[in-house]
Amino acid sequence: MSLLKEPDFGTPAKEGEATLSLEVDGLPVAVPEGTSIMRAAALAGVDVPKLCATDRLDAFGSCRLCLVEIDGRRGTPASCTTPVADGMVVRTQTPKLAKLRENVMELYISDHPLDCLTCAANGDCELQDMAGTVGLRQVRYGYEGENHFDAVKDQSNPYFDFDPSKCIVCSRCVRACDEIQGTFALTIEGRGFDSKVSPGAGELFMDSECVSCGACVQACPTATLQERSVIELGMPSRSVITTCAYCGVGCSFKAELRGDELVRMVPHKDGGANEGHSCVKGRFAFGYATHPDRKLKPMVRDTITEPWREVEWDEAIDTVARRMLDIRRRHGAGAIGAITSSRCTNEEVYVVQKMVRAAFGNNNVDTCARVCHSPTGYGLKQTFGESAGTQDFRSVAQADVIMVIGANPTDGHPVFASRMKQRIRQGAKLIVVDPRRIDLVRSPHVEADHHLQLAPGTNVAVVNAIAHVVVTEGLVDQSFIADRCEGFAEWAEFIARPENSPEAVQPITGVPASEVRAAARLYAQAPNGAIYYGLGVTEHSQGSTMVMGMANLAMACGNIGRDGVGVNPLRGQNNVQGSCDMGSFPHELPGYRHVSDDAVRGIFENLWGTALLPEPGLRIPNMFDAAIEGTFRGLFVHGEDIAQSDPNVGHVTAALAAMELVVVQDLFLNETAKFAHVFLPGASFLEKDGTFTNAERRINRVRAVMKPKNGMHEWDIVCRVATAMGYPMHYDHPSQIMDEIAALTPTFAGVSFDRLDELGSIQWPCDDETPQGTPIMHIDEFTRGKGRFVPTPFVPTDERSTRRFPLILTTGRILSQYNVGAQTRRTANIAWHQEDLLEIHPHDAEDRGITDGDEVTLASRVGTTKLRAKISDRMPTGVVYTTFHYPVTGANVVTTENSDWATNCPEYKVTAVQVALAHPVIREQELDGVLAAELVD
Ligand code: SF4
Ligand code: SF4
Ligand code: SF4
Ligand code: FES
Repeated sequence: MSLLKEPDFGTPAKEGEATLSLEVDGLPVAVPEGTSIMRAAALAGVDVPKLCATDRLDAFGSCRLCLVEIDGRRGTPASCTTPVADGMVVRTQTPKLAKLRENVMELYISDHPLDCLTCAANGDCELQDMAGTVGLRQVRYGYEGENHFDAVKDQSNPYFDFDPSKCIVCSRCVRACDEIQGTFALTIEGRGFDSKVSPGAGELFMDSECVSCGACVQACPTATLQERSVIELGMPSRSVITTCAYCGVGCSFKAELRGDELVRMVPHKDGGANEGHSCVKGRFAFGYATHPDRKLKPMVRDTITEPWREVEWDEAIDTVARRMLDIRRRHGAGAIGAITSSRCTNEEVYVVQKMVRAAFGNNNVDTCARVCHSPTGYGLKQTFGESAGTQDFRSVAQADVIMVIGANPTDGHPVFASRMKQRIRQGAKLIVVDPRRIDLVRSPHVEADHHLQLAPGTNVAVVNAIAHVVVTEGLVDQSFIADRCEGFAEWAEFIARPENSPEAVQPITGVPASEVRAAARLYAQAPNGAIYYGLGVTEHSQGSTMVMGMANLAMACGNIGRDGVGVNPLRGQNNVQGSCDMGSFPHELPGYRHVSDDAVRGIFENLWGTALLPEPGLRIPNMFDAAIEGTFRGLFVHGEDIAQSDPNVGHVTAALAAMELVVVQDLFLNETAKFAHVFLPGASFLEKDGTFTNAERRINRVRAVMKPKNGMHEWDIVCRVATAMGYPMHYDHPSQIMDEIAALTPTFAGVSFDRLDELGSIQWPCDDETPQGTPIMHIDEFTRGKGRFVPTPFVPTDERSTRRFPLILTTGRILSQYNVGAQTRRTANIAWHQEDLLEIHPHDAEDRGITDGDEVTLASRVGTTKLRAKISDRMPTGVVYTTFHYPVTGANVVTTENSDWATNCPEYKVTAVQVALAHPVIREQELDGVLAAELVD
């Protein structure tokens, strides 16, 4: 349980020693230089009345309520905008100040609809509070004068209302949108009495640039901007701190409840990853947890053509165990396996992999990270010695040059994108490496210094060319390399070869050599250069090569081991880091230790009390191939919709259909469940206790705000299956699972629920040497000792555009939807995105007679689907783009089985395709001859 109302110190904290001493209303206090009087007073325990100030925003000084008197100074300065001085004596309560404040409040209240008793913000309104604080008893100006009572409400946003009649024009919303979110969607229009808040140029919120992050709603001191859920359900009465279950940023939230009903999610100010900010998904899109589509009863059926039959938990668990054992008896231990979920908690993932290794008796466990960040694990382990990003998110505030490669943070990792944009607005330089002109390339007050708009599939050629410039122009950090790295000479000889020069690779990458050279110099010469990357790096046949290429570049420039630098994967799912940490890969036990290591296996065998196999098990694609061959027959799929999310869906569904037993544990009957024989209802994150680990290696607590609606904890279900199969697994609480993880995994040695409760969150490694965790890695030496340079030759993908498939398809996601959309499609977020669209350059569209909104056929070598076209010059010619949030589109029907050479991560980002009008009869003469005829079914 946490405080419903967190303290607000009025202005942001200043860093540094508390060197200035002052006295506020007789109370002594010492603060760092630059601190406002208002904050100093709050720290001394004195609340100065305020309306336009809040400690999330820079002081503005507009409401004139926070006036104070200072000994030896004339006038009554605003305490929010006046910095303290040593020896100051401040008075916040004098008759003169009381009168001034009363006057201010009278003016506000005379133009405020006094419907407090029926107002949604009753009890959570700073105007109401301030009226009480200043002791307002009368309004001399009356209520009959000119006012804004009839101002029209804007209810266009599905999650919050804007009622301008209650606005006090404090500008907190505008500043929150500018300073915190960085979208600049709001302005104050007009002057004096006519001034008013306006989204865009007098537009509705939904028609404006607003991305619905809710920062303005949170900042608003009145009911002007108010969550719809509060209006409908009333003010919350208690709160629980937990973690968002969407993306790898891992934002902390206060889940605010009224009774047992979740009213709103408020980003937690002390959240290490988000520091009080959020995006539309985490703050508003939680309605899926109570969606009627949710299945709450276990179900079984003998064959996938039969209807489901609801059963009790005992029967469902017994069915799974019995049928898995039966397959194992008839076909051997290797015929069964499981897929863990990066959506689930560390504790749930841990018990699934333990069930496979100890109860199934093999290492056939893999994770959905296989299809996203497995190359990160491999590449960073090879070069740095640890399969994780190097920094905390705060570090970006120290970066001088930020290189974003194959990531679209404003859509994929919005809260981190806001941090990054803050730093860019402060003057950091930006290099974007992406085939698409993502928002970061140009958005309000942010512009990339270089956009290397490369052809999909040529990342390695580009990073090699950047490194070539660094090496051949003498920009390397010699002393860093000499002290801390190995393999430099061999790598430098490789990278300096003429074939890696920007000029040599330009015909392949499409990026002008001069741009590559300029970007390389910028990054190498920056005091601090930081690399952030996403799936546009990993989901390639050379994903692992590219991760090592970036690591080489960072080491060559000495950009590792301090604030403001590093190589940072922006992880996709909420717990993709954690699911990898927990031993989800078939070759690794928790903590990334190979199953063939006898000593490591011995530790697990001792604690688990069973022998473990030393040979790696099957990866996901191997499971599918083996299923089609008939040697793999039973699969437990934990919280993952592989029939939608994995490439070449036709192959995946053929594999699922070939299996004797598919068990799906999920919230909804997803696409994979169509092939399932047992359905085990899952619990939403609101019903779970455990931990998630975000992209910064930050372990955050997930706390249940309600009991599991399915009647059973997910970790307990898994334990019961294992027990029913003959391997007893029992825990009373997920904290015991974490204790076991800590006992077995050196990087988690100091982690426990108690410690997490005490510290708020912990970035692993956490052990006796680093009991507070490790925000920045590889400070004095790399985890593997010396950082290792690895030559990274560019080997082009086999997937090439041809006359038959002349375009390259690349995929991604958008802000309002998440992954396969199972959650977000069941929320009001569909207001922003009702279908997946194919973005196509105007020239490519024109060549095919396609106009905006036309239904088109998208065909690759492996499959065909239909969707509507969106003409967009964000794409270069020759490249098309789509999202994969809707099963009906089935974008992965067309993606191929090409995959990363080291990890089998699918090459989602490069598929040769053709696009044609789906209904060519209308404009037959515009079609691409024979090809169009082939494409139309
Ligand atoms: S919801 Fe976010 S983006 Fe929209 S106006 Fe408010 S602060 Fe700006
Ligand atoms: S909408 Fe709220 S935050 Fe914005 S100016 Fe009005 S009262 Fe202030
Ligand atoms: S940025 Fe990611 S973790 Fe944060 S609220 Fe949005 S979806 Fe959740
Ligand atoms: S709070 Fe200081 S002027 Fe408004």
